[in-house]
Amino acid sequence: MIRLLTVIGARPQIIKAAAISRAVKEHFRGQIEEKILHTGQHYDANMSQVFFDELGIPAPDYNLGVGSGSHGVQTAKMIAGIEEVLISEHFDGIILYGDTNSTLAGAVAASKIHIPVFHIEAGLRSFNMTMPEEVNRIVCDQLSSICFSPTQTGVDNLKREGFIDSQAKFKNGKGRLVINSGDVMYDNSMYFATLAEQKSDILTRLGVKSNDYILTTIHRPNNTDDSERLTNILSSLLSITERDGITLVLPLHPRTRNLLDKNLNAAVYEKLMNSPLVKIIPPASFFEIIVLEKNARIVMTDSGGVQKESFFFERPCVILRPETEWVEIVEHGAGIIANADPKLIVEAYDKLIGIKPVFPPLFGDAHAAEHILQKINEYLS
Ligand code: UD1
Repeated sequence: MIRLLTVIGARPQIIKAAAISRAVKEHFRGQIEEKILHTGQHYDANMSQVFFDELGIPAPDYNLGVGSGSHGVQTAKMIAGIEEVLISEHFDGIILYGDTNSTLAGAVAASKIHIPVFHIEAGLRSFNMTMPEEVNRIVCDQLSSICFSPTQTGVDNLKREGFIDSQAKFKNGKGRLVINSGDVMYDNSMYFATLAEQKSDILTRLGVKSNDYILTTIHRPNNTDDSERLTNILSSLLSITERDGITLVLPLHPRTRNLLDKNLNAAVYEKLMNSPLVKIIPPASFFEIIVLEKNARIVMTDSGGVQKESFFFERPCVILRPETEWVEIVEHGAGIIANADPKLIVEAYDKLIGIKPVFPPLFGDAHAAEHILQKINEYLS
């Protein structure tokens, strides 16, 4: 029996891990045993526990409870905690997701004691080294035995960094392997879409109708911590809602909530808080966000996950960042990069509202988790 340790910590990783845990249970019983370690990077109930409940993920076997802190302090505590678990229990491999500090910590801890690292959502690049995520994902990819990329773009990025994408060559000796596995987030979105609509009454609670609101999320530090960017984004959104009489639904990440009154221009803050067209809500659960994405007229976000889920549910997306890792969304005209530029934000909104973009199947076959576990099983057997 192969023993794998899955490391999660931040909200999107908990969601991604659900697809792997489900595939272990349904397809690899008796072959793979999975244990879950939660670093505690996200700890509020609506940033963590709610996803375990909704997605049926087993409770973590280990919880490091590291909480928030500077990058160095937070990551260091995680490395120490993960190393201790890896040493005291016998694991054959570690599964890591995405690009957070929890991912980085898992990669450093495991590779130093020669435990194979399997990186899910590998190969993505923003080519912006000021993003902590870019640093985390590059280091994790470099330390991985197998990189599982959700897209062909990710495979191409890693091939340029010396990875090989041929299993035959990999078996013959050296090298690091990259595989286009498809996206575990796509697995989950397809698996839970119908159930989410049955279980969540979020549209009724908010009093919004399908196709009649903008969904926005903002949580990236370069937007929340920079007063000018935050003000530009939110004032542009307010001007669109006022001009078109369209509602704005804004689930707020705790980082954004904590910085809003400090970093947002006072007049814009007042308007945002008092506009009848703006619905500010706490961080959404997975079912809630799926329903909100599926029914939005348009999505405007700085989140990578929300960009992608909008695409899965065939909703156009304005990207509130200077670049994106999900370049195929932009290449296919389903998303436009508007950064935090008021003119570009309004132009992107107007353009996407007026067209019907195409949403080709770019993110796999909704069985990425099974493909990933099959490869890990072969590699470790
Ligand atoms: C982290 C990831 C980011 C991912 C995001 C998903 C890193 C470097 N960044 O960013 O890639 O897109 O998760 O949400 O790992 N906080 C709470 N309660 C919580 C968690 C956080 O109040 O449960 C607040 C704290 O003030 C904390 C801040 O949010 O300092 C930021 O949390 P942190 O985990 O450091 O980074 P995220 O912005 O969530």
